[in-house]
Amino acid sequence: MYVRLYMGPVVEEMVHVPVSFQRLWPICILVLVTTLFLIYTVLNLMKNPSTGSFNLRKITSGRNCSTTECLAIDHSVVTNNINFSFDFRGLDVDKLLYNRAPKCGSTTIYSIMQKLSVDLGYQHYNSKIYNKKLLDESQQRRFVKRVKRMPSPCSFDRHVFFVNFSQFGETSPLYINVVRDPVERIVSSYFYRRAAAKRRANQGRPNEYWMNKNFEQCVLSSDPECTFIDGGIYSVLLLPYFCGQDRRCLIHNHPWALWQAKQNIQRFYPVVGVLEDMNTTLIVLENTLPRFFRGAFKLYHNTEIRRNQNTRKKEVAEEIKDVLRANLTAEYELYFFIQRRLRQQLHDIQMKNKEKKYVKSKIK
Ligand SMILES: *[C@@H]1O[C@H](CO)[C@@H](O)[C@H](O)[C@H]1NC(C)=O
Ligand SMILES: *[C@@H]1O[C@H](CO)[C@@H](O)[C@H](O)[C@H]1NC(C)=O
Ligand SMILES: *[C@@H]1O[C@H](CO)[C@@H](O)[C@H](O)[C@H]1NC(C)=O
Ligand SMILES: *[C@@H]1O[C@H](CO)[C@@H](O)[C@H](O)[C@H]1NC(C)=O
Ligand SMILES: *[C@@H]1O[C@H](CO)[C@@H](O)[C@H](O)[C@H]1NC(C)=O
Repeated sequence: MYVRLYMGPVVEEMVHVPVSFQRLWPICILVLVTTLFLIYTVLNLMKNPSTGSFNLRKITSGRNCSTTECLAIDHSVVTNNINFSFDFRGLDVDKLLYNRAPKCGSTTIYSIMQKLSVDLGYQHYNSKIYNKKLLDESQQRRFVKRVKRMPSPCSFDRHVFFVNFSQFGETSPLYINVVRDPVERIVSSYFYRRAAAKRRANQGRPNEYWMNKNFEQCVLSSDPECTFIDGGIYSVLLLPYFCGQDRRCLIHNHPWALWQAKQNIQRFYPVVGVLEDMNTTLIVLENTLPRFFRGAFKLYHNTEIRRNQNTRKKEVAEEIKDVLRANLTAEYELYFFIQRRLRQQLHDIQMKNKEKKYVKSKIK
């Protein structure tokens, strides 16, 4: 587009050049070529500020953005040419590990797996450990051993940060997970914690102030429960589920943590779903991992399988959400990365199916 805009006037001018100017020809061409090269370089730099998949400036530039600005920033980050095709080689494809992030529809997904495992002939193991996501080395070792010990094919679910199997000399199982808009997830957890506390018996219930704390106030008054500061340590965010057990994974907006999370997704997660787009998530799961998910879409839509929804959740104003969003740069970059990958996967599946139909119609 830029090339054409530029060529037009130059060519036109040259039609009217007097003969004596013809000696300037080579200079004109030189200037034109140099200009085009400069424009190309600048455009490339704007599009692709670093050749690595990660750039610190992007992180800090999102500091104060509104929702739409945040979206724009993240889209420019994820449009770097990334090949999303998944390489299954070197992985234990008979084992599936759903290291479920909380408040992203994980109860629904695990219910689907439990039902499908009967039809598809694999064992599903559900963990009741909900609050031990960060494991020390011996706990990781025990976890790895347990997963490897179970007869294949099988699947597991547990709220746990990514565990690096090769660190313990084992081939990694396939990982999956499902995420959700990071602020919606924080809001959901906030009200879920209170609903869960209310259900508990009176003893051990937190104090009345905490129970009745207003979410808007919590955000605006910089209450630690609703505040996320760069460099702070948080274990309630999405990113560590993909980054892993390294201490740096808990450091808020840490560049290495975001980079590592993306690396792990590309290498170990054939599918990461998005709660806001359950249909796409289920279609991609079925097509990428048929052995574990064939029939998931139908099961989801034909049965009352959606569970663990909190009806006590209150509406939160968009302005309040934007205040939180402005601080959750790495979370959003990861979320948009996952969303774009999932859409690309759906697109690839649709193309493949079209091709198949085309071939079929030719054979007939
Ligand atoms: C963020 O926004 C606030 C209010 O609009 C403004 O005062 C502040 O200077 C901004 N900070 C940065 C780093 O842009
Ligand atoms: C993506 O990578 C896979 C192998 O990892 C390769 O087969 C495929 O051709 C690549 N696609 C593009 C568009 O580069
Ligand atoms: C996992 O551990 C292996 C062996 O220690 C190491 O080479 C690799 O970089 C680690 N990968 C991740 C994602 O931590
Ligand atoms: C956002 O980050 C700033 C600077 O680190 C901090 O002062 C503010 O309290 C944070 N706000 C929220 C809602 O996390
Ligand atoms: C998801 O699929 C169901 C069943 O085909 C359909 O009724 C529904 O409209 C779809 N939802 C979205 C958001 O596309």
